[in-house]
Amino acid sequence: MKNDFSKKLLQWNSEENKRSMPWKGEKDPYKIWLSEIILQQTRVEQGWAYYENFIKTFPTIHDLAKAPEKKVFKMWEGLGYYNRCRNLIQTAKKISTEYNGKFPSSYDEIKNLKGIGPYTAAAISSFAFNLPYAVVDGNVERILSRYFGINTPVDTAEGKKKFTTLAESLLDKATPGKYNQAIMDFGAVICKPKNPLCDQCVQSKKCYAFLQHKIEELPVKKKTIAKKIRWLYYFIVEVDGEIYIRKRTEKDIWQNLYEFVLLETQRSITGKEILKSSVAKTFFANEKYAVKHISPVYKQQLSHQTINGSFIHVRLKKPVKDSGAYFLVNKKEIKKYAFPKFITHHLKSENG
Ligand code: ADE
Repeated sequence: MKNDFSKKLLQWNSEENKRSMPWKGEKDPYKIWLSEIILQQTRVEQGWAYYENFIKTFPTIHDLAKAPEKKVFKMWEGLGYYNRCRNLIQTAKKISTEYNGKFPSSYDEIKNLKGIGPYTAAAISSFAFNLPYAVVDGNVERILSRYFGINTPVDTAEGKKKFTTLAESLLDKATPGKYNQAIMDFGAVICKPKNPLCDQCVQSKKCYAFLQHKIEELPVKKKTIAKKIRWLYYFIVEVDGEIYIRKRTEKDIWQNLYEFVLLETQRSITGKEILKSSVAKTFFANEKYAVKHISPVYKQQLSHQTINGSFIHVRLKKPVKDSGAYFLVNKKEIKKYAFPKFITHHLKSENG
């Protein structure tokens, strides 16, 4: 390996990198795959316990493939971006039946699996099979753009191509798995998005951004995505110890998760406006209702949307005539359904 960047990276890894994580050094492609899917759009600290729970509950891919989907979704609860969970189940079933439980061992076959893109395919191929594919994620783009002074936007086809070609050329082909894990750790520990530790960095003497005082400006992004704002008013409608819920079936956030009676708006609204809504007409028009509790406003930041909302706990004397997709579930059974984090947070705070 001729280049100085990779040499220094591997040296840092063997001498200074103390980062320890349960999937590090793992050779079982099933476990690596699981960790990488969990870690897509999830911080390591958050994903850690989920990974351990999945491995304990489903030690092999057959165990995951034959588990009831409801159970898998329940275990995923809180991680968000549920497409990942749907794809996880689909891919587990495919490998279990079509590959007899043996994870495919070529990059192309791995990349063809549902939920696996170039990054995850490179991670699995290199960690499990020592194949020479470089991982390119936000970490890698940040490190390379700073070190080499590349101002091509990372969120363009040209940028993706440029960073992938460069990453492939830097990869240590003798130890691709070790190299890939090292560059990810380096991005998380040293070359962080904010306040990178340049004074401890073994690369700083040759780092363009450090030498030219361009740390803040690199990497470059083309779009700043306008965030959509949504207001969700959830009515916890209780009738004789039971609560109305429904499954979110639309192609939207939280697909396949459950929720309470929802009134969604694009801005915050008043109590009067709530009473004029179709939800109020369905649930509160025909009899006296008692508002038991109104929660504070909760906020959740997703990558492209800001969710605001609150929970209004209401008690009715008898069920409504036509509740549409909403059905009644005993309060004690509620825990068996998978809800978005937005809702479970509230339920936890309500129950102390
Ligand atoms: N993020 C995604 N994959 C990772 C890994 N293997 N180690 C640390 N962070 C990660």
